[in-house]
Amino acid sequence: MKTIKTYITSIAIFSIMVLIPLTYIGCKKDDDGDELSLYEKLGERAGIESAVEQSILAISSDPELTPFFEVLLVDEGGMGAGLEALKENIADFVDENSGGNATYAGMSMAEAHSAANPRMTNAGEITDQVYNAFLDAMIQGAQQAGISDQSTLDEYRDLLDDSRDDIVN
Ligand code: HEM
Repeated sequence: MKTIKTYITSIAIFSIMVLIPLTYIGCKKDDDGDELSLYEKLGERAGIESAVEQSILAISSDPELTPFFEVLLVDEGGMGAGLEALKENIADFVDENSGGNATYAGMSMAEAHSAANPRMTNAGEITDQVYNAFLDAMIQGAQQAGISDQSTLDEYRDLLDDSRDDIVN
């Protein structure tokens, strides 16, 4: 009898000390107790734009990625106009897909990254390895923009990874 009691007490203590706190870790809530959307956890529009801006800097210093983006450097509108447009497009895409109010109006992920887009053909194929390097640059950018919560970073990476099948050639 004593053993059963000890057993039940151990389960109760384990639940209170470990399981219940674990359930709440990563569930950030707003003032009304509602769970925050990824959009909110990324710092809403301003946070997303600053993360994407830092990511473009991270992409620019990765020799595996830069050849793909060279086409954007000679776009009309002067140096950087193409990258600025890309930043806005990616920010809209992340904004919409993380729970914000933006409406992404650019090409579909498959269309933009397919070999049928003549602007994508110079740098070769987007392999899984290239895609992983891109995700690393996106996460590095988010960290440099001040997002440090690991569960937010993981959720952001998962959102971006959802496009893998559309983008990897
Ligand atoms: C999560 C993964 C990715 C997302 C969410 C993403 C998002 C986007 C978006 C929103 C655009 C703009 C499309 C438009 O102008 O209508 C774009 C264009 C582009 N992306 Fe990606 N992208 C991803 C992965 C990649 C990778 C892995 C590469 C190459 C390493 C890449 C290279 C480019 C280039 C070069 C363009 C410009 C295409 C053009 O101007 O025609 N992207 N991307």
